[in-house]
Amino acid sequence: MTRPKNDCFLRALARQPVEFTPVWLMRQAGRYLPEYVETRRRAGSFLNLCKNPSLACEVTLQPLARYDLDAAILFSDILTVPDAMGLGLYFADGEGPKFERPLREEWEIRALVAPDPNDRLRYVMDAVVEIRRALSNSVPLIGFSGSPFTLACYMIEGGASDDFRRVKTMLYERPDLLHHVLAVTATAVTDYLNAQIESGAQAVMIFDTWGGALSHSAYREFSLAYLERIVAGLIRERDGSVVPSIVFTKGGGLWLEDIAAIGCDAVGLDWTASLGQARRRIGDRVALQGNLDPMVLFAQPEVVAAEARRVLDDFHAAGPGGGHVFNLGHGISQFSPPDHVAALVNAVHEHSRALRRPAG
Ligand code: CP3
Repeated sequence: MTRPKNDCFLRALARQPVEFTPVWLMRQAGRYLPEYVETRRRAGSFLNLCKNPSLACEVTLQPLARYDLDAAILFSDILTVPDAMGLGLYFADGEGPKFERPLREEWEIRALVAPDPNDRLRYVMDAVVEIRRALSNSVPLIGFSGSPFTLACYMIEGGASDDFRRVKTMLYERPDLLHHVLAVTATAVTDYLNAQIESGAQAVMIFDTWGGALSHSAYREFSLAYLERIVAGLIRERDGSVVPSIVFTKGGGLWLEDIAAIGCDAVGLDWTASLGQARRRIGDRVALQGNLDPMVLFAQPEVVAAEARRVLDDFHAAGPGGGHVFNLGHGISQFSPPDHVAALVNAVHEHSRALRRPAG
């Protein structure tokens, strides 16, 4: 059995009792840490860093060396999957991710195939193996992927977009084509996450960053249906432990009941939701992950601690019991002061222990 010594994160996802609320942060390894910037400089670029398993392992561990975090997340990017599908990922300075060959023509879409993750994405699996070895069961390792719809946004737009004009035009005009992209991508994501699990990932998270840009009905048809298909295809148990799945649709708070019904173990919420209300709506059918506004980290440490307590109190107000993984409502900003992150992690542990102590 390879259960980690600190398995609080896995117990919270299983809605089992915990002594404190576990905490990790989306993008916890990243540019707000000077040691990350230094390793990236040595690697030459962000993509070199992702494709070098020992450097990816090094940066995965950096936030854990500084802070008392309860989980590690594989250092990689969601766009490695379309890169492995042949779209040619690159990062233009200051412009974010781009593809050399975005999906524009019908024949390009028809030619799309799901890559073998143990071949084209071998470097990710090697990183997972190396990180697990380096963690030596201290905390669990989270693997991840993008959702088919979020990946399709980048694959069709060719990079970041503020209105999703191309992908939404396809959605309304040629839904058959978009469904084809999503179906192939869902197979790719399922295979990719299962390969991560077989390499040692102890939980998986699916980032649906742009699902919240869809209409009520389009979200169900073009994002949620594929998330459900993926969750149904995931390896459920490995090494005698359940491998829980977390689904995060940014802007998906209104659709919580529907997301909670697809078979995932936990739902990630952004900062617009109330965790207390969310719990009252779905009971303990799934665990909840979130949801501090990442911008809180720019305020003074006392304010950061008070806002962390507000999130914990909100969850707790809906009744005792576990099922909460503390996180930000989205990725940490590259400009966040590192010492404010320490104040956050400590406040989550201290206050969540205090909430569990019997009164008097
Ligand atoms: O959470 C972690 O620490 C694990 C690593 C991780 C990264 N990206 C590293 C990264 C994870 C889980 C992601 C997910 C990801 N990547 C998402 C979904 C989550 C979200 O934030 O919405 C998306 C949409 C991407 C695509 C992507 N990659 C973008 C839009 C960017 C540019 C961001 C920016 O602020 O410039 C990236 C690059 C990226 N991915 C960086 C990191 C640390 C910064 C690259 C650098 O070092 O220059």
